[in-house]
Amino acid sequence: MKRVLSGMQSSGFLTIGNYIGALRNYVKLQHLHECFFMVVDLHAVTVPQEPAALREQTESAAALYIASGIDPNKASVFLQSHVHAHAELGWLMTTLTHMGELERMTQFKDKSAGKDSVGAGLFTYPSLMAADILLYNADLIPVGDDQKQHLELTRDLAHRFNNRFGDYFTMPEPYMPEVGARIMSLDDASKKMSKSNPNPGSYIAMLDEPSVIRKKISRAVTDSGREVKYDPQNKPEVSNLISIYSHFADMSVAEIEAKYEGQGYGPFKKDLAEHLVAVLEPIQQRYREIRASGEIFDILKKGAEEAAEVANATLLEVKKRMGFVI
Ligand code: TYM
Repeated sequence: MKRVLSGMQSSGFLTIGNYIGALRNYVKLQHLHECFFMVVDLHAVTVPQEPAALREQTESAAALYIASGIDPNKASVFLQSHVHAHAELGWLMTTLTHMGELERMTQFKDKSAGKDSVGAGLFTYPSLMAADILLYNADLIPVGDDQKQHLELTRDLAHRFNNRFGDYFTMPEPYMPEVGARIMSLDDASKKMSKSNPNPGSYIAMLDEPSVIRKKISRAVTDSGREVKYDPQNKPEVSNLISIYSHFADMSVAEIEAKYEGQGYGPFKKDLAEHLVAVLEPIQQRYREIRASGEIFDILKKGAEEAAEVANATLLEVKKRMGFVI
């Protein structure tokens, strides 16, 4: 059995990009391995957040994990800020990280582009992410394609630590979906679908009402052709919609292409919206029940206790090896 760790930021409401790229795999992996899934609220504050919005988005993300099928008796579900070892190992990892490594991170470049002032936390963010992973000596990290670079840095830091302080950390591997590791915006297929995009038409939130989902899909940008064909190079918008379709209908790309041959985009988009609604509506129903019951707080408390047991043991060992007086 392997150990799995992953997390999502509560800097907005979760989108179908988060669901396809990562959350679906969380649900799958819980049946096979020992799993830790957190909401990374400490990461969320690396860009300014309103306190009330942060609280709501954090609770919402945790409830959506459960509503999507994560069983808190199988996997530990918790908030990053509830397990103090994350912040502490995050600091220790920052001291092992080189400025040049952080300067190369494309997520930092994207998020800081054009800003007059950028928080230092946005810059050191990857060191905290490395700590998140290494605290659990995790083997598999279910993530979307955009996190690959952060994971490579995590491996570099693990190597660096092991070289200086003796072999200790496991080398984590990314676990990504074959299709859909990078779901693109509905209004611009050159950009990743993102929960922090100011245009809500660019993404489908997991909590969007069915009427909103239908409207967003009908307005999603396509091209001037009429062939439903997976060709990311020449037909990026349609290919993106096919990836989404494939996940929500559990159909292969080839099956989808065959189904809509010669039919144009109209019926394809209409069916896509219905597949999205068919999967998301029951999740939304469970989500409302979970929020109303307040059970999420007990789940998060139990999850944090389970996580802290593992994380604190790692932190203690790391501090010993680094020369701290214990
Ligand atoms: P975040 O919050 O941006 O996204 C959460 C997860 O969703 C995936 N994802 C996508 N996948 C496909 N298409 C998209 N458009 C899309 N948008 C997001 C992300 O790849 C991610 O897996 N740094 C991380 C959070 C993090 C973390 C960790 C992840 C912090 N510590 C430790 C794994 C392990 C992030 O910003 O994800």
